[in-house]
Amino acid sequence: LKLAILISGRGSNMEALLKAAEDPAFPAKPALVLSNRPDAKGLETAARAGVPTLAIDHKLYGKDREAFERELDKALSDAGIEIIALAGFMRVLTPWFVTRWEGRMINIHPSLLPKYKGLDTHQRAIDAGDREAGCTVHWVSAGVDEGEIIAQAAIPILPGDTADSLAARLLPEEHRLYPRALAIACARLRT
Ligand code: GRF
Repeated sequence: LKLAILISGRGSNMEALLKAAEDPAFPAKPALVLSNRPDAKGLETAARAGVPTLAIDHKLYGKDREAFERELDKALSDAGIEIIALAGFMRVLTPWFVTRWEGRMINIHPSLLPKYKGLDTHQRAIDAGDREAGCTVHWVSAGVDEGEIIAQAAIPILPGDTADSLAARLLPEEHRLYPRALAIACARLRT
């Protein structure tokens, strides 16, 4: 399946997906890495890996979210994309776009959903006195971070953990989880 990965920044999850897809048996083949920020570090990483990249700068579209998304949608359709993985993509997508790609778009979120939708997930987990934190890969539906869960991974929250230390310990779990969850998503798409 032709895969597009949408990023906004560092792109370490994207990199994990690209690595997994080097295995010819992996069910998705990266065909496009797309960023809404032209300066996203991940674009360089993807280009070095030989994957086509594209930046569509949302700032050029002002408040018109749908105009931005029409460009996004066109780029994805032109590239023949069959499945989308959001990986640190920091734009909220409108119902118009989500509906067009529903059942073909997944996201990774750094919390054990349904807990802590949105931002600052690690700090919120620490403040709540939770014993564990984690990450979730889910189908993208109209509500932000609300779609059906595909897979999760959890790690303990340790005494003295800060949002940063927790995020750093969780990141390798994200990198393990996302390729596995993407493979599950691909299998569901085919049936
Ligand atoms: C990850 O923590 C991901 O869960 C969240 O944003 C972060 C992106 O990091 N959605 P990276 O760009 O993949 O390195």
